Amino acid sequence: MFTLDVYLQEQAQFVEAELDRHLPRAETRPHRLHEAMRYSVFAGGKRLRPILALAAAEAIGGDREDVALPAAAIEILHTYTLVHDDLPCMDDDDLRRGKPTVHAAYDEATAVLVGDALLTLAFEWMAECPAPPPYTPNRLVLELARAAGSQGVIGGQIEDLAAEGKHIPEEALLQIHSKKTGALIKASVRIGVMAAGGRPEALDALTMYGGDIGLAFQIVDDILDATSDTATLGKTAGSDARAAKSTYVSLHGLEEARTRAENLIDNAVLQLAHLHGNTAPLEAIARHILDRKH
Ligand code: IPE
Ligand code: IPE
Ligand code: MG
Ligand code: MG
Ligand code: MG
Repeated sequence: MFTLDVYLQEQAQFVEAELDRHLPRAETRPHRLHEAMRYSVFAGGKRLRPILALAAAEAIGGDREDVALPAAAIEILHTYTLVHDDLPCMDDDDLRRGKPTVHAAYDEATAVLVGDALLTLAFEWMAECPAPPPYTPNRLVLELARAAGSQGVIGGQIEDLAAEGKHIPEEALLQIHSKKTGALIKASVRIGVMAAGGRPEALDALTMYGGDIGLAFQIVDDILDATSDTATLGKTAGSDARAAKSTYVSLHGLEEARTRAENLIDNAVLQLAHLHGNTAPLEAIARHILDRKH
């Protein structure tokens, strides 16, 4: 029988082994930079995005070995977004993954450079993984670049900051969440399909799945920020209210936010009927996004 906890633990170990194999050792010069990169990557973290890439490959009958390095690349890119998101000039948070943020444990310049280095390294790793047919060899790099860039994560982050202290329309919030968080989650699923050589029809279905769970993931993040505690989250609870962020909770209230997340997850799961591999992990992960505690 499929047990999500066991699955998540096993896949996270697989991803972490890949990260450890490819990240420069802390003893490699510049010592401080590589130590801090490893500090941020191995501070914990659910490894949701790389696991989604592996699970997407499985859902199309592919092999997770084909997705190992692309999945690791996604995780270090995600880690860069967290390191920069926490900087004093952004969300100004001191705790991440249950530990002091990089700028708190080291210093601000180191945190900026750790983020820069992880971002750059993510593309180096992705470039080492040519996509199989029917995709062009550089397809995975392109996918990551689009998700991470000024019309993806970075675009969402600047709009998120601009929306602090303002009442913004529903459509604007949807754009922020889809870009700052949804884009990389959607790309994780797509990269899993492409790296495993999935057919374009499967890619279409999983693109819808990824978009829906990506948005739901950020709505739940907003809910947890407002309702959970710092020890459980491993990051400072109430950070959004303190910064007067525009969130689904501030705009619609807790109950409506929860209903929206549930509807998105129901929609996402419907897409899985189009696939021919083992979709149990992707279904369970989607549902888990609603009841996760951190
Ligand atoms: C946190 O992402 C940032 C958001 C997009 C909300 P995660 O909740 O996946 O963080 P880690 O990787 O588990 O630390
Ligand atoms: C994060 O949004 C989006 C990123 C690109 C990192 P948040 O600012 O809500 O993430 P947390 O709550 O700090 O993890
Ligand atoms: Mg933020
Ligand atoms: Mg933040
Ligand atoms: Mg948050």
